[in-house]
This record gives sequence, structure tokens and C-alpha cells, in this order.
Amino acid sequence: MKNRSALEAYSEGKAWWETEISDIKKNSIQLRGYPIEELIGRVSYSQMLYLLLCGELLGDKKAKLFESVLVAGADHGPRAPSIAAARMSATCGISFNSSVATGINLLGDIHGGAGEKAMKLFYRTKRLYDEDGDLHAAAVQVCGEFLEKGEKIPGLGHQLHDDDPRVRKLYSLSQSYIESGDISGIYLDIAEEIRKALQEMKGRKMTMNIDGVSAAVQCELGIPAEAAKGVFALSRGMGIVAHAYEELMNGLLVKGPCPNEDALVRYTGVPCRHIEEGVQYEQ
Ligand SMILES: CC(C)(COP(=O)(O)OP(=O)(O)OC[C@H]1O[C@@H](n2cnc3c(N)ncnc32)[C@H](O)[C@@H]1OP(=O)(O)O)[C@@H](O)C(=O)NCCC(=O)NCCS
Repeated sequence: MKNRSALEAYSEGKAWWETEISDIKKNSIQLRGYPIEELIGRVSYSQMLYLLLCGELLGDKKAKLFESVLVAGADHGPRAPSIAAARMSATCGISFNSSVATGINLLGDIHGGAGEKAMKLFYRTKRLYDEDGDLHAAAVQVCGEFLEKGEKIPGLGHQLHDDDPRVRKLYSLSQSYIESGDISGIYLDIAEEIRKALQEMKGRKMTMNIDGVSAAVQCELGIPAEAAKGVFALSRGMGIVAHAYEELMNGLLVKGPCPNEDALVRYTGVPCRHIEEGVQYEQ
């Protein structure tokens, strides 16, 4: 990604908006070169997403695998901060799309967005592996680098699950794609090797999470790491839309983060004190 001034690029003769994605003229809409009327009714949602994002049409089979990633991440109930935030917003009288945006805006490196970091890690591990052909050594090296910095390895661990059905299913589905030769499986191997390496280093069971396996599958499909948060927003966006809609239809008003129970919110500041008349307060 080049960082340069838009004004400079414009003065060098580029158009103000340059795009390789869409060519829109009167009565003509072409996306990545394909007339929209040829895409409508022929390509799936995941094929359209891949086309817009990566520039080419994904074959039907691979598109189904990509779609499985989108389906897997769609919802994790109101325990997931993004879903809870969207539902909370819906009770506060803001518009439906603003409630949806509130949920989407909560997706970050820790909740829902670890995929980007995981993909960068897997792509990097692959480069190390290509250099010296030792996958285990590459996995140990990258895990060591994260731990030295005091950082968690993206794509591993979960607050609730230690045998996440989504992870299990995406792995077994991917296995059938490896067997049929549709994907190489190298990034799934890399993810698993990193999990094993961390498990050895920590001396405790470490599990792959949904962001980790989704990242590995997206690497298999050649999706750029920087796109991962956007892809997840479209996946979790389905759940966010449904939950915000349900809460809106419930008609409940002002549902805060928790009910008014003392045990749930605790004040930990100075005890009650009073402003004394005539005293100058300075700090
Ligand atoms: C998701 C996450 C916050 C869950 O944490 P948790 O269940 O509360 O696990 P804990 O923080 O209690 O960790 C338990 C132990 O496992 C270790 N651990 C858990 N996940 C780890 C990870 N991804 N990398 C390194 N160590 C990890 C912790 O360091 C801790 O070890 P310690 O006892 O030696 O300190 C954590 O696993 C994480 O940050 N993962 C990376 C980010 C990610 O993939 N997020 C997507 C989640 S779907």
C-alpha cells in the first residue's frame, strides 16, 4: 500500500477517483469488466464479493468454501459484544442502520477482527517455510516473536469454546477440498503447526478459534489479509442485522449494558465527600 498525497497524484495526471472495480456510464454498469446483467442471476454473493475484492471470478466450488466462512461467522448471540451493542442501540431509538453500524464498529483486533492479524501471520510463516522448508521451525519462530512482545497469537484461544463446532466443520469441509485438489491445504497446515507450537511452548491445551480457521481458508483462496475485517463485517453483519431487527421489534426501550443490580456495577473510587463552602479547590 503506497501512502501519498491525493493532490500530488491528481497533479500528476491521475483522475481524482481512479478505480479498477467499477465502470459506470449512462445505462451501463460494468464490474471488474463484466456487465452487471451477466452477473445478476449467475454469480453468488461470495463470488460477487471475491470479484469486487480480488478482481476475478471464483469458481463455484471455491466460492462455496468462501461462503462457508461467511456463514460460519454470521452470529454468536448477544454474548458477542458486536451483537449486544447492536441490540442495545436498537432500544435507544436510533435508526436501524445506525444500530447495525454500532455493532459493526465494535469489531476489532480482539473481537471478530483477529482474522487480519492471523492471515498476516500465516502468510509470513509460509514465506519462512518457503525459505528453509521447516514448517515446525517457522511456527516456533513466529510464536516466539509474539510471546516475546507479550502479545497473543491471533486465531488461537476462545473465552467460551474449546471445541468450537464452527472450527471443526470448516476444518472437515476444507479437508474435502484438499482431497479433491481444489486447495493446497498449506495454510491449514500452517495454522495447525502454529497451534501445536504454542501448545508446546505454553504447556497447556491451545485451540484454534473461528478467526484462525477462517483466516487459513481465506489464505488458501488468496484473499489479502488487509481485507479480512471487511469480509468479517459482511459475515457478522448478517447476525447483527437480524439481532438489531429482533430487538427493534421487541419494542423494549433503553436496555443498558446490564440491569440495575449492585453486584454488576461496582464503584471503586473515593468514598462520598462534600464540597466545602469558601474553600478554593486547586489541582
Ligand atoms: C480470545 C482470548 C482473549 C481468550 O482469552 P481467555 O480464554 O480469557 O484465555 P486467557 O487469557 O485466560 O488465557 C489462558 C492462557 O492461555 C494463553 N493464551 C490464550 N490465548 C492465547 C493466544 N492466542 N496466544 C498466546 N497465549 C494464549 C494465555 O496467555 C494464558 O496463559 P497463562 O495462564 O500462561 O497466562 C485470547 O485467546 C486471545 O486474545 N486470542 C487472540 C485473539 C483472537 O484470536 N481473538 C479472536 C477470538 S474468537
